[in-house]
Amino acid sequence: MGTSHTRAAYVTELGPAERIRVGDLPLPEPGPTDVLVHVDAVAANHVDTFVRSGLYRTPTPFPFVIGRDLTGTVAATGPGATGFTTGDRVWCNSLGHGGRQGSFATLAVVPADRLYPLPPSVDPVTAVAALHPAATAFLGLFREARVRPGETVVIGGGAGAVGSCAITMAATAGAHVIATARPADAPHCHDLGAAEVLDYRDPHLFTHLGKATPDGIDVYWDTSGHHDIPGVTPLLARGGRVLLTAGISARAEIPIGSLYTRDARLLGFAISNAATADLADAAALVNRLLAAGALRVRVGEILPLDQDADAHRMLEDGQATGRLVLRP
Ligand SMILES: NC(=O)c1ccc[n+]([C@@H]2O[C@H](COP(=O)([O-])OP(=O)(O)OC[C@H]3O[C@@H](n4cnc5c(N)ncnc54)[C@H](OP(=O)(O)O)[C@@H]3O)[C@@H](O)[C@H]2O)c1
Repeated sequence: MGTSHTRAAYVTELGPAERIRVGDLPLPEPGPTDVLVHVDAVAANHVDTFVRSGLYRTPTPFPFVIGRDLTGTVAATGPGATGFTTGDRVWCNSLGHGGRQGSFATLAVVPADRLYPLPPSVDPVTAVAALHPAATAFLGLFREARVRPGETVVIGGGAGAVGSCAITMAATAGAHVIATARPADAPHCHDLGAAEVLDYRDPHLFTHLGKATPDGIDVYWDTSGHHDIPGVTPLLARGGRVLLTAGISARAEIPIGSLYTRDARLLGFAISNAATADLADAAALVNRLLAAGALRVRVGEILPLDQDADAHRMLEDGQATGRLVLRP
């Protein structure tokens, strides 16, 4: 495909953010169904820090380029990589785990079945900020919880990246959405489609939640990972679903009788395990919403690739307010 090097943020062993180096690496050998992408923007995710540190175990061939999301432009295509032409604007959100090299580089090799067109006129920074949380929101709401119009969906951490996308998607699907967020973030959640926004720090949160959901909660998703399963279970409607996607080291008390007598289910998933077909289903909705300007995830900072270690530290220290986008 012509180019032999990429400038990348990478590690040679798992460990703290200090291990991240930025420099030239040989391009991995692109296969016949791969696409070489000139990277425009990437976004730092919590999961990138879990992969880098070893908290989330996945094959990481060294030197291992960090990061799973990118927006960019097709630089070259393998002979079997159908559907893409040099110059196409594209995106991916599943690099940097499962043995695949990551996206934090000037050039990245992407399997064609993990690459999607970026709709015309969509800004690459706005888009890259939404790719990972929006696909997560799709998988949670539709593949796992199978949200139906008219259902009551509670989104905890509604102003966060996953929470914002989940509010948008649930409201667009016709659900009655109630979010939790700090009061300053309530207008953002309302704008996205939440009918009601409650303060997650309120000691009487579950009392207010109960009053706001007289017919019970069909889907409860605390996207922040601060689970209170005993608190929410009495509020679940029959057949209620509780999504578990965060809190990698968290433990919770499970009120077993209260759950099974409601036909309720706890549904955990990690997007890292999603099949390419599921990711493609997610991409179709993500692209429809991006094209409509409907995916609004707050961008905190736009940094140069050299500051990837800083971005990881900000995520790990809880200092990031909004998505951290990096530009190679
Ligand atoms: N399983 C998966 O496939 C998957 C996929 C994507 C992400 N995740 C995980 O999901 C989590 C959230 O990711 P994100 O990108 O959405 O993070 P984020 O943008 O940092 O959002 C987290 C939100 O949670 C809020 N929050 C903090 N404490 C809370 C509490 N006690 N109750 C309710 N909300 C609270 C934060 O509000 P403040 O700003 O007020 O602090 C913030 O708005 C991360 O742990 C990430 O690893 C999992």
